[in-house]
Amino acid sequence: MGISFSLKGDFIKKDEVFALQKEVERCHYALHEKTGKGNDFLGWVDLPVNYDKEEFDRIKKAAARIQANSEVLIVIGIGGSYLGARTALDFIKTPFYNERKKDTPDIYFVGNNISSAYLNDVLAILGDRDFSVNVISKSGTTTEPAIAFRIFKQLLEKKYGKAEAAKRIFATTDRAKGALKGMCDREGYETFVIPDDVGGRFSVLTPVGLLPMAAAGVELDAVMQGAADAREKYSNPDLKENDCYQYAALRHLFYQQGKTVEILANYEPHLTSFGEWFKQLFAESEGKEHKGIFPVAANFSTDLHSIGQYIQDGLRCFFETVLWVKTPKSAAVVPFDAQDEDGLNFLAEKEIHFVNSKAFAGTMLAHMDGGVPNLVIELDKMDAYHFGALVYFFEKAVGISGYLLDVNPFDQPGVEAYKKNMFALLGKPGYEDRKAELEARL
Ligand code: PA5
Repeated sequence: MGISFSLKGDFIKKDEVFALQKEVERCHYALHEKTGKGNDFLGWVDLPVNYDKEEFDRIKKAAARIQANSEVLIVIGIGGSYLGARTALDFIKTPFYNERKKDTPDIYFVGNNISSAYLNDVLAILGDRDFSVNVISKSGTTTEPAIAFRIFKQLLEKKYGKAEAAKRIFATTDRAKGALKGMCDREGYETFVIPDDVGGRFSVLTPVGLLPMAAAGVELDAVMQGAADAREKYSNPDLKENDCYQYAALRHLFYQQGKTVEILANYEPHLTSFGEWFKQLFAESEGKEHKGIFPVAANFSTDLHSIGQYIQDGLRCFFETVLWVKTPKSAAVVPFDAQDEDGLNFLAEKEIHFVNSKAFAGTMLAHMDGGVPNLVIELDKMDAYHFGALVYFFEKAVGISGYLLDVNPFDQPGVEAYKKNMFALLGKPGYEDRKAELEARL
């Protein structure tokens, strides 16, 4: 499998990492034997081999129908019900997926913010083109996707009539509970299940991520094969043999040294949204009980011209994890220029990826000289197989890392606080006392 991991420099000795063997082993068995905190949300551990094959087939068939009758697929969801599919498209296809010539539908993501301008822009781009909707919500009550679904459901019904609209709505939700599930049963929408034991941020390899991927023409079998191979590879409790566990152990050691921020850096714009997915996975899993590493994402070399200054010379509170892709999706060379006014002819006919590789190496050394530890995850390439594998690498890493921190990595109680305030301020029935109290503070 084409993923490798290494610690650069000598910020931490290998022996210190391997001294965590017993601790890591305890976390490993807590995950695999389902005896740790949040053990009712461990469905993702075996998901790559233990998924509903009948539903998997149904996803492919639904995707084929969407491809046949829709120029656009509107994907509605937020958080774990959005970021996985978004990053899959960028990673496996391209961030320019919608602009590229193709025989699969354009895909627009809505319901991941509360901006009326964003919604209106998508509606304008959609125009009068044929479309379908994939609404994704485990609870079925999340405000952002619920508002967007109202809008696009009404648009579908106006355009096609209720019966045809129902055939163009695909809902990914809980097996039995929730407002959306009730609506699907009543209206006859085709539904796909987010398994009970898989939390939102771990759901990219369920229908949550798989249906939008399939609609975009991604080979789902390759995604699942990559994840299955990663599951096999990262199931070894021996820290010396397990890169994923070494990454989790190193994060823990850096945290103990006061490195409370992790920057996930990449050198490919195709990985920008992977950084967003990573941020949710780690922040929601570890940021609790006033503990946890704060995850941020950086896109290099772009951000070297902005936050690069801080990384080099600011507070020394972070370490960097660099995602480096060995083979770019396509190649290009620096052209020769007879005038050579910019003095770049020393690079003429060199691969741009070669230049990128030297930016990566030079930045890593400069940042380490500035006191920033660097971890490197090297990927052979960005395809469906490596996407599945990398997703699993990070999911397993956060499980071990969260257990090392002694938190429940599989709940997210903190995300409720803003929702309660928002509902109160919006005047939702039942929140009257809170509304008065909050308004007095504003
Ligand atoms: O990871 C999570 O659980 C959250 O990010 C949820 O996925 C997000 O809040 C969306 O929730 P739902 O799918 O219930 O609409």
